[in-house]
Amino acid sequence: MAQSAPPPPPPTADAVGAPPSVEEIQKAAQEQQIDPYNVSGARDENGNVKALDYEALRQRFNTPALTEEHLKRFEQVTGKPPHRLMRRKMFFSHRDFDKILDHYEKYGFFLLYTGRGPSSGSMHLGHSVPFMFTKELQDIFDVPLVIMLTDDEKFLYTRNKNNGKLTKGAALGDFIKYALENAKDIIALGFDVKKTFMYSDYEYMGGHFYQNVSEFESLLTNNQIRGALGFNESTNVGLNAYAAKQCVAAFASSYPTIFGCGDWRAPDYAEMRPRKQIAAIPTLIPCAIDQEPYFRLVRENCGRMEMPSPKAALVLSKFLTALQGPGGKMSASDPTSAIFMSDTPSQIKNKINKYAFSGGGATKEEHEQYGGNPDVDVAYTYLTYFLDDDEELAQIEANYRKGTLSTGELKKRCIEELQKFVGAFQERRAKVTDEVLRQFMTPRKLEFKGNPNAKFSMEDLAGKGETKAKDGEKTGPQGGRETSKSERKQAKIEAKKAEKLAEKLALREKQGQDQTQPPAQQLGSEA
Ligand code: TYM
Repeated sequence: MAQSAPPPPPPTADAVGAPPSVEEIQKAAQEQQIDPYNVSGARDENGNVKALDYEALRQRFNTPALTEEHLKRFEQVTGKPPHRLMRRKMFFSHRDFDKILDHYEKYGFFLLYTGRGPSSGSMHLGHSVPFMFTKELQDIFDVPLVIMLTDDEKFLYTRNKNNGKLTKGAALGDFIKYALENAKDIIALGFDVKKTFMYSDYEYMGGHFYQNVSEFESLLTNNQIRGALGFNESTNVGLNAYAAKQCVAAFASSYPTIFGCGDWRAPDYAEMRPRKQIAAIPTLIPCAIDQEPYFRLVRENCGRMEMPSPKAALVLSKFLTALQGPGGKMSASDPTSAIFMSDTPSQIKNKINKYAFSGGGATKEEHEQYGGNPDVDVAYTYLTYFLDDDEELAQIEANYRKGTLSTGELKKRCIEELQKFVGAFQERRAKVTDEVLRQFMTPRKLEFKGNPNAKFSMEDLAGKGETKAKDGEKTGPQGGRETSKSERKQAKIEAKKAEKLAEKLALREKQGQDQTQPPAQQLGSEA
């Protein structure tokens, strides 16, 4: 019944028992840090890690909460109940989710985009969360999906971490291999090949995608990237430049082929630049909130592109917590913090029993008398992600709080559910051949139907790269749907706002303010 993970050691004082100095207290008490490369809880004055404070984070990033209203609207537009991860607010925040629903209702489809940085050959349970959710969105909305495998990012990041030194398992070719292994893992989570294009950056980057990269690179300054992503002057050039790649991956115009249009490769000069009509297709990105800083950069600068894209919409999740408790996230670099998708049933059992932080009482008697705390209990938390039955979950929570369900019993239920999830995954994974992988990774026209009740049909993009209006609707110069006056006005306003923001940021840089301001204040408030 005792808690299985000790808290991190307090900072040392010179003499045993001596009170810590003011400097020591200040040093130990740290704010939480969350960006694409760091996720750590705040520390109190004794150096103890605190749980991640998602409400504070949401306010700092200035991303709205996902509310019951959104869930109702989701159900109204799709006719389907929201996934448990949304019902239970693991996906807790968003940007423009309502706009994407409005768009889907009217125009029938949008682009789904998510990704994975292949840092090792096997993904952990936490990585499966956004993909599980994205699969459900793909099934429900029946829209195209692109999955980016950032082998370049992870290579550059690892080299950066190792001060440029080549270390074992971290050569460029290793990350290409990891990307392919991870791609098979992702496929095994159940994506529909007809609607999914998955690519590794090293393989796909070129043509319209790379043109978008170059243009976006020309809009971003080093200081903007540093502010958003926590880089500094010692960060290697490649990692700075990588940012534009993850950003423009959110533009539909980076993938003309999936909409049945040509992507420029010599000698096909027909389409030199990404197409305006494709650029206008909006994108929804499901991910954990660590990736939000990238998409803040997208939203601030997309209106400045020669062929502007709408601001990317986001649905943002919390992190599946580390086995050790709610102050950090599951991380592939710490095997004791994570359950891997390749773990055997007995490994899962041992890890939960040995490492999963318990919110139970210190002794059996205490637990029965005072009850347990499911809010910090890792086994319970994992059940909230993987157990679909709302009633059973509510029962488990109530019994645990009362103390009638013991930590051992709770862990047992959690182990069963995780073994079931991982076991089913491994069965599907064994069937993902190289041939299947190649199908997913071949650029091709995707087949999707979108919203059957939408006013407009966009499936006629094939070959022409144009949207096509249904009977009675006005069409644009090349047969595509003509944007309305108010949409054009809105686009102009957005472009003006983006310009103004860019000017403001440039001015701040000149004044040397960027280095002293925390990233969220610098950027989040205006995205
Ligand atoms: P990566 O590989 O760090 O993470 C892949 C996805 O998993 C999310 N994630 C988690 N979700 C829940 N619990 C956790 N413990 C946890 N750890 C990671 C991440 O937020 C992400 O959604 N740079 C990216 C790759 C990328 C990408 C994207 C991700 C490129 N384009 C678009 C999301 C959307 C990366 O390294 O992800």
